[in-house]
Amino acid sequence: PVEKWCGDEQLYQWKGFWFRLQYLLGTRQVLDKFKPLPSDVILASFPKTGTTWLKALLYSIINRSSGACLRSNHPHMLVPTLEVQLYGAQQQSFSTFDSTSSSSRILATHLPHQLLADAVKPADCRMVYVTRNPKDTLTSFWQFVLKSRSYEEPWPLEMAVEKFCNGVVPFGPYYDHVLGYWKESLERPEKVFFITYEELKDDTKTHIRRLAEFLGCPFNGDGGEEEILDEIVISCSFEKLSSHEVNRSIEHSPWMRLPMSSFFRKGEVGDHRNYLNNEMVERIDTITVQKFHESGLMYGVN
Ligand code: A3P
Repeated sequence: PVEKWCGDEQLYQWKGFWFRLQYLLGTRQVLDKFKPLPSDVILASFPKTGTTWLKALLYSIINRSSGACLRSNHPHMLVPTLEVQLYGAQQQSFSTFDSTSSSSRILATHLPHQLLADAVKPADCRMVYVTRNPKDTLTSFWQFVLKSRSYEEPWPLEMAVEKFCNGVVPFGPYYDHVLGYWKESLERPEKVFFITYEELKDDTKTHIRRLAEFLGCPFNGDGGEEEILDEIVISCSFEKLSSHEVNRSIEHSPWMRLPMSSFFRKGEVGDHRNYLNNEMVERIDTITVQKFHESGLMYGVN
């Protein structure tokens, strides 16, 4: 099935999820060809839920440094997205990914767990899934699309809400995406780490510590580790990251036809209150209760 999504762009439904044509091809390549290694760390997320932030964090935690590298590299250049940069139409080569490298590969994907499971389970690699409350995710997505130059027609918020609620959004339905990883994190907590944008915002340091433990490289308090942890909190913060020239650039990224700056907007919790009206909020909250709360995931309304 095909559905009109935004402007004259259509989304294609495949295996229960919606894709933009350019990523559908990359997605199929990933599922056909990608062979994870047991040492891989895969960051999974629905778009606009904090992917860029987690890319910077995971890279920094694993490499035990961040400041200098993040000053000159966009987080998306440090942690490539499978269906875009590694298997998509605009493939890039990443020299750190040759088979002789001893450190873990950090890879990212927006693919739902329902599709990836056949590939990642046998490899037994670690996965980190970040999510964000649906109203902020939708608001961030809508703003992102509005600012991207590839769409010339206006995209009213009413239409964005309608599509989101019907699940017709790239890599959507959002709710199925989140529930797929959440259920897996309950079944295999030692392999799938589930974290929300809001909890990370609320206490970044504690959650970086938890992430490091999950990844098998805990901060143990000696040899300057505590200082490194403090430095990572700051160097991955929205304020710091969005101040770097490479992340402010309006030049298009090599992997998407979008300015490099598109991945940094406001970086706050609750920004939907500035855009969504009461009716929209009620509609989304009702679906959230039905989909999340009734599955046992008490998240996403506040
Ligand atoms: P807003 O549009 O609400 O500002 P993704 O990386 O998954 O595309 O998500 C983008 C969202 O994360 C945007 O949200 C962006 O501003 C925010 N973001 C980017 N870097 C961040 C950081 N270091 N800390 C917190 N939020 C960040």
